[in-house]
Amino acid sequence: MSEGSGIRAAFPGETNRTALKQSGRLSASESLALQERLARYRGRVDAELERWLPGVDEEPVRLHEAMHYAVMGGGKRIRPVLIYATGAALDVDLTSLDGPAVAVELMHAYSLVHDDLPAMDDDDLRRGKPTCHKRFDEATAILAGDALQALAYQVLSQHPAISANHTVCARMIATLAHASGSEGMAGGQAIDLDAVGKALDLQALENMHRRKTGALFRACVAFAAYAGGNSNDVLQDRLDRYAAAVGLAFQIADDILDVVGDTETLGKVSGADQVRNKPTYPSILGLEGARRHALEMHGQALQALQGLGAEFDILRQLSAYIVHRES
Ligand code: IPE
Ligand code: IPE
Ligand code: MG
Ligand code: MG
Ligand code: MG
Repeated sequence: MSEGSGIRAAFPGETNRTALKQSGRLSASESLALQERLARYRGRVDAELERWLPGVDEEPVRLHEAMHYAVMGGGKRIRPVLIYATGAALDVDLTSLDGPAVAVELMHAYSLVHDDLPAMDDDDLRRGKPTCHKRFDEATAILAGDALQALAYQVLSQHPAISANHTVCARMIATLAHASGSEGMAGGQAIDLDAVGKALDLQALENMHRRKTGALFRACVAFAAYAGGNSNDVLQDRLDRYAAAVGLAFQIADDILDVVGDTETLGKVSGADQVRNKPTYPSILGLEGARRHALEMHGQALQALQGLGAEFDILRQLSAYIVHRES
């Protein structure tokens, strides 16, 4: 996509977008349209996930059951949604995004299974069900996480819609590895565990959140740009800044919900961060400070898209949804 086709000097929706920035909230009709689109994208990735997960009757049955349990039947699928939404904004054929959408959700599901283990956050409830190690056992949960991670790379390298394009495949694999490895998600998790009981300053907290959650969000927009063959560095840089801001906002919202949400709505035990003495945005900035910070990130996300046309409204709305979500 050329700069000219993606960035317009003037566009009719500007007033709406200014209103969105000031209030940070969506109108009722925008919200309804967004919910419908989210449901469509979730249905799409769920069908693909079912296709790629090994059958629960295949040996070793217990491991395959645990993988299925950890992935299906819950979850907001926000990362696949971000991939598809970015693809829609860039006019990319969504079929070429099914592989990346599955891969990122598998990677995320693995991170949750391991995050819940006794050696990490030691949580008993996830997506409204017993955590994987509670429903099965610790060894099975560790192996399920390992196998989900391996499957993510298998999907990226073998999905028929992208596997013929070796350059795109290799870029996607490298991006997922970087985003989920020691400089990304796993590194952020290490910092998180090391920070328990410590008073992190805002910069250190932000660094931790950017790695543990932001890195995968950035990978999501990159996947859509690669699949679409985007060669516009300016646009890619804007999308990257958007995803970094939205990823941080998502984890700030997660921290806030741990304080204000209830266990039933969240599907995970609320108040767990405080019990475990985790440094979070509310613990450092207070609840109102954390809310303001999340809105600032929403503002930064919109800023990154400034001047881009109405086809990017879906990303603007997704950012609003992320900061105001209730689960
Ligand atoms: C929870 O992720 C862990 C974070 C990185 C904040 P989600 O809130 O996306 O969890 P699910 O997939 O919807 O269960
Ligand atoms: C987990 O963050 C981030 C991951 C990379 C899995 P949290 O520990 O805050 O996630 P929840 O609250 O358990 O979902
Ligand atoms: Mg954690
Ligand atoms: Mg946790
Ligand atoms: Mg949390």
